Order: sequence, then structure tokens, then C-alpha cells
Amino acid sequence: MPHRHFLESVQRDTNQLLDHYLPAATTIPQRLHEAMRHSALNPGKRLRPALVFATGEMLGLERPALNVPAIAVELIHAYSLIHDDLPCMDDDDLRRGIPTCHVAFDEATAVLAGDALQTLAFELLASSDDLAVRPVTRLKMIVELAKASGSLGMGGGQAIDLALTNKKTDIETLESMHRMKTGALIDISVLLGYYCSEINDQQVAKKLSIYSQSLGLAFQIRDDILDIESDTETLGKPQGSDLEKNKSTFPALLGLEGAKRRAAELVEQSLEALHELPYKSDNLANFARYIIQRDF
Ligand code: IPE
Ligand code: IPE
Ligand code: MG
Ligand code: MG
Ligand code: MG
Repeated sequence: MPHRHFLESVQRDTNQLLDHYLPAATTIPQRLHEAMRHSALNPGKRLRPALVFATGEMLGLERPALNVPAIAVELIHAYSLIHDDLPCMDDDDLRRGIPTCHVAFDEATAVLAGDALQTLAFELLASSDDLAVRPVTRLKMIVELAKASGSLGMGGGQAIDLALTNKKTDIETLESMHRMKTGALIDISVLLGYYCSEINDQQVAKKLSIYSQSLGLAFQIRDDILDIESDTETLGKPQGSDLEKNKSTFPALLGLEGAKRRAAELVEQSLEALHELPYKSDNLANFARYIIQRDF
């Protein structure tokens, strides 16, 4: 299936599933549920669910078997974006072409909406009957998603991002921040697809990790490049936000061309790892190529 069709079908499925699993906007407390739905249901690219589905399908699963982990990781991502946009963090007022959660609602509601999206992710993974894996696999998925989201993963990366604002840094520190704040959730998306298959093959897990870790870093480098090269309407979020806040980014350190070269190199590495796997990995390969070509 060509990549665009794959991504569009993932977007359709993800939007329907989010609508299904999120509490209705009429459920009390209504304002909180409206805020959660505002931020989760608007048109995100759904790239993390795409990685869960592409990996699981490559390993022989039907898509519905992957619904719960795909939604869980997208819920964590939605929460991370709400908090990322808060005045105490990046202080941005536009996300996916609509006002950010704290602008559309208020700061306290946005904090709580993020909290509740995060806990819903773990509730679904822990208890949904739509996930048919062995209890030990379910537990593994919960533990690894928690690690990827926490202080040694996304949350920790966000803390380092804030600490590095207005500071000069070196490439190693920047890479490690990117691997944590963005790479960890990209990595776990691929691994959740793998865990769900219940295949237990260290070689496969290792190659998939090389693929997803290189991809995760390339993904955030491209995000940094787009902050400079794209425009607010295309991005659906404020262009120039990093420059305005003097963030530590790849283009700031390596220049635009240097950052593009590094991202391309990383995608090559991720494709090499994929080619060493004995599976039909077209969707994952196309995904990696798309990551550095995308313009939003
Ligand atoms: C944006 O992620 C935040 C980063 C981690 C760079 P996406 O580019 O996947 O954002 P959405 O979900 O499509 O809005
Ligand atoms: C955010 O990185 C990473 C997250 C963990 C949310 P950015 O701050 O660069 O993401 P955008 O550009 O606001 O989407
Ligand atoms: Mg940020
Ligand atoms: Mg931001
Ligand atoms: Mg950014």
C-alpha cells in the first residue's frame, strides 16, 4: 500500500478509536472532558499509532489487535503536547491549527487534561478487553510505556530542554535530550507493536530498536528544521517558536544544512537496520523516508 494511503487509513482509525475511548464531552466534569477531547481529537498526524500498526502488521497481526497500544501512545503524546505548550514551558498558543488547550480553556484545566490523558493511556493498557495478549506481555507494555514517558524518557527530555533554554550546548547533550524528549515515544511505538506480536526474538527486537532510535532522533531534528523553514499555517503551530525562545536545537548548533545531513544519515541507519529483518517492511521504510521529507 502506498505510504499516503497507509497514513490516511491510520488517521481515520485513530480518530475513531480516540472518540470511542475518550469519555464523552457530556460526562461530568464536562469542562475537563471537553478539554481532553479538544486536544486529542484535533487533526494530529497520528505518527505514533502508525508506527504501532506498521510494526505489528509487519509481524503478522491484524490491525484491531493493535488498537489499544496505538491509542495508549497517542494519548501520552497528546498529554505531552498540552503540557509542552503551557506558559511555563514553550508558551505557545496554536497547536494543530487550533488554540492550545490552556488558551481554549484555562491553565488549570490544561494541566488536568494532560494528567487525565496520561492516566487513561495506562488504564486502557492495563484493563481493556480489546487487548488480547498474555498478562506478562500486558505488564511489559505498561512498564515500557511508563519508562518511555517518565523522567528517564519524554518527561526527563522535556526537563533538559527547559534547562538548556538560553544556554550554549554541545552535540552530545543535544542528541541525548532529543532521544529522550521525542525519541523515547517513537521507540516505544515500534516496540509496542513488537510486544503485541508476542514474538520473542532478541535479534528482531535489536534491529527494530536501531530503526526506531535513529528514526526518533531524525524526527526531532526535522521538527527543529521545520520551526525555521516552514510557516505557521502549514505547521499548525507557531513557526519560529524555538528561535524566539532561544531553544537549543540542531540547526542552532549545526546550521540548517548540517542538521539536514545529520537527519538524512540517521534515516539511512534506520533503513539499514530494517533491511536486515526478514519481513516485508515497506510501511516502516516509507515512514522513515517520509520523516525527513515532511513539511509539517
Ligand atoms: C510534535 O509531534 C512534537 C514533537 C515531539 C516534535 P508531531 O509532529 O507528531 O505532532 P502531531 O501529533 O502531528 O501534532
Ligand atoms: C516537544 O518538542 C517534544 C514533546 C515531548 C512534546 P517541541 O517543543 O519542539 O515540540 P513542538 O515543536 O512544540 O511541537
Ligand atoms: Mg518543547
Ligand atoms: Mg513546543
Ligand atoms: Mg518543535
